[in-house]
Amino acid sequence: MRSFFGPGTDTLVRKIRFVRLMVLTSLTLLAAGVIAACTTADASPDQPIAFSHRAHTENEVECSFCHAYVERYDAAGIPRVDLCASCHSAMEGEDPEMQKIFEYEDAGNEIPWVRLYEIPQFTHFSHKWHIRADVGCQECHGDIGQSDRAVRHMVYDMDWCVTCHEAREASVDCVLCHK
Ligand code: HEC
Ligand code: HEC
Ligand code: HEC
Ligand code: HEC
Ligand code: HEC
Repeated sequence: MRSFFGPGTDTLVRKIRFVRLMVLTSLTLLAAGVIAACTTADASPDQPIAFSHRAHTENEVECSFCHAYVERYDAAGIPRVDLCASCHSAMEGEDPEMQKIFEYEDAGNEIPWVRLYEIPQFTHFSHKWHIRADVGCQECHGDIGQSDRAVRHMVYDMDWCVTCHEAREASVDCVLCHK
């Protein structure tokens, strides 16, 4: 075969293989990029209701009024639709985004908010102790309280946790954060 097609064929086959490899590589990179997009900083997923933190904090609704567990438990908590309705049912206006609250409530469904921050199952984080140590929400969540649309301030990795722990002389024992 080889001699029949002449010496150029090998190079051609190699070229085709190379091109195929490049296509595969770029497809893999593309897929990795799509996955990375869900876990990158500055990402701002579409939410089921265009919820503005600013509209609420400007009206002096405290963070802990909605994220009610933040001072006492590990998780901060996302408010249930009943809490939204408790204020909004007393408010005038036809804002379609506000109306969605009642659509979820009437259907007996919670609002399916898309999460921005989540650390892996094998790690442990507790809001309570950070709030007690006077670490502000903003240090970890940026200016979400002043924003009209929630943006993931940063991606949390172990370095980030450990760097602050070292700076604040908090423990860096593996078992503190790893179950
Ligand atoms: C403590 C009372 C209170 C609670 C609880 C509350 N809101 Fe509001 N909400 C307000 C006030 C006050 C405004 C500002 C109204 C205005 O500017 O006219 C507002 C404004 C809004 C707006 C309009 C935003 C804009 O851009 O003007 C939406 C949408 C909204 N709220 C959704 C929600 C959702 C969803 C929840 C539950 C997670 C919720 N609210 C919980 C009091 C509340
Ligand atoms: C009126 C209720 C309300 C108030 C007040 C409020 N939040 Fe929220 N918060 C929400 C809702 C609803 C979501 C989910 C929708 C979103 O991400 O925009 C949320 C999402 C978040 C998230 C992202 C959580 C995740 O992993 O998806 C953070 C962080 C947060 N809030 C911090 C704060 C801070 C800090 C304050 C005070 C400066 C505050 N919130 C005040 C209702 C509230
Ligand atoms: C030391 C950093 C740090 C501080 C300070 C902090 N958070 Fe968080 N927050 C996190 C981490 C990490 C997660 C993800 C936790 C997880 O996946 O278990 C998170 C998750 C959240 C969530 C998602 C839902 C949930 O139930 O946990 C909300 C809401 C939130 N934080 C609100 C707040 C508010 C409000 C404050 C201030 C009162 C605050 N956080 C202070 C690091 C912090
Ligand atoms: C901005 C600074 C800062 C960041 C970022 C931070 N921490 Fe902490 N953390 C502290 C401080 C300060 C304490 C000490 C609190 C004390 O001494 O009670 C602490 C304490 C803890 C504790 C001990 C609570 C307990 O049960 O005794 C755990 C667990 C913890 N952090 C996990 C984490 C994890 C996981 C991350 C990253 C996702 C993280 N921290 C990011 C400042 C930070
Ligand atoms: C202050 C909290 C904290 C401490 C202390 C800590 N870790 Fe972690 N570690 C984390 C968090 C949060 C993650 C997950 C972050 C991520 O997904 O990148 C993690 C991830 C890891 C991973 C998985 C890395 C990966 O890329 O998937 C290993 C392995 C690990 N830690 C080992 C250790 C060892 C060993 C120690 C002690 C020398 C330690 N950790 C101490 C918070 C901590």
